[in-house]
Amino acid sequence: MNEAAPDVPSPTRDERIAFLRTVPLFADADDRLLGIVADAVQRRRFPAGEVLFREGDVGEAVYVLFEGVVKLSKVDLGGHEKTLAMLRPPEYFGEMAPLTEGERSATALAVEDVTALLLFDDDFRHLMRTHPQVGLNVNATLAARLRGMDDEAQILSYQDAQGRVAYVLLQLYRSGIVHLDGGPPVVHLTHQELANMAGTSRETVTRALKALEGERVIDTRPKEIVLLHVEGLEEILHDIR
Ligand code: CMP
Repeated sequence: MNEAAPDVPSPTRDERIAFLRTVPLFADADDRLLGIVADAVQRRRFPAGEVLFREGDVGEAVYVLFEGVVKLSKVDLGGHEKTLAMLRPPEYFGEMAPLTEGERSATALAVEDVTALLLFDDDFRHLMRTHPQVGLNVNATLAARLRGMDDEAQILSYQDAQGRVAYVLLQLYRSGIVHLDGGPPVVHLTHQELANMAGTSRETVTRALKALEGERVIDTRPKEIVLLHVEGLEEILHDIR
């Protein structure tokens, strides 16, 4: 299941090093460190729809996204799914369980076919101990995530569903989870998936999208939202604030 498909060649060591240089976990790492990591990581492939790991699993590795999009989510006691983040290369995730020797705090799902480079926890912790830069980089990621969560808590507590949905669409745009085929950016998500991100119901999202369409900042099609006017979405968020 996780074996490399024979038709897709593995990146060479040099290609792995060149890629790892772009990963925030290894920002400012020297060539020697990048070489150590390139030799230590294992490549795994996950078809779209496959779960990489589930909330509560033992965390055995940090995942560096090489290809594809991953969704991180949690299910609350009422059975509602909350999407925490959608990630794309060169982002990494799954560092919290190895750091604490605890359980996975969220479930990771391959939204598209995914290739990840796994850095197993013994290697990860060894790197943290021997290369302070790696520890600093992890701290920077955790701080950025906390800042993002603070912003989100503030925005998602607004009453206005239009603002919540505008915020989610902007987040998807800013994190590159949009398709660009020469025209305006397109979000390929269902109303339910947007609701899981905005912490609201599908019906509320549908109404909010209609309102945003009325403002001519987006255009909705089945399973597609075209972002016609990104600055307009920002203005809506700003006006509500
Ligand atoms: P871990 O707990 O090992 O497995 C789930 C991973 O999801 C976690 O490590 C983090 O890397 C990531 N994660 C958890 N919460 C968030 C969040 N709010 N935003 C982005 N990523 C998260």
